[in-house]
Amino acid sequence: MPAHVHPAPSVTPRTVRRAFPVGAAAMSPSGFESPARDSVYRDLGERLTELMAEQTDFIANISNFAALLFTSLPQLNWVGFYLLHGTDLVLGPFQGKPACSLIASGEGVCGRAALQRAAVLVPDVHAFPGHIMCDELSRSEMVLPLFKDGRLIGVLDMDSPELNRFDGADSEWVQRLLQQLMDGTVVPEWRLAPSGGADARGVSVRR
Ligand code: SME
Repeated sequence: MPAHVHPAPSVTPRTVRRAFPVGAAAMSPSGFESPARDSVYRDLGERLTELMAEQTDFIANISNFAALLFTSLPQLNWVGFYLLHGTDLVLGPFQGKPACSLIASGEGVCGRAALQRAAVLVPDVHAFPGHIMCDELSRSEMVLPLFKDGRLIGVLDMDSPELNRFDGADSEWVQRLLQQLMDGTVVPEWRLAPSGGADARGVSVRR
């Protein structure tokens, strides 16, 4: 193997393994509860540690993060990031169908989460005023803010084809994983500068 070719890390084969079989009858919202859920999320934390062991690059790590969640958690049809550019959210690394590439401040579930700097859980996307439909399969959604050193730099968006797929425990576990992700990742300076849109002041309230 030439010197510049690096073999994939040993964790790679595990990232394509689904913790739950695709299409299994047990994959209802109530079928993904503790202790099985806690165990899956703990395992994800360990796999994230392995994936990031020799990598601090922002795009590499958030790309693997989206893939890790998408291939490991049940009942998901889309997982990815929207990153702040000024006051807008621009599509970042994701897994799933092609999606809308620009979300204005405060728009949709993603814009709401960025504006509020807080998790937004939507049990039924059709009942959420202003929901932006990128995949017609989506029925419920969870959007979590992405912070680096206390500064908002984007959001993580997770969609499910099942109603009411996400609850507070999912939100807490994934936010813990996001913290782990950001602790081990170097974020480019321009994403952290107020002019780059990473400062909460860059998110305007539409009146
Ligand atoms: N539903 C999101 C838009 C992004 S897609 O779901 C990938 C929203 O309302 O902000």
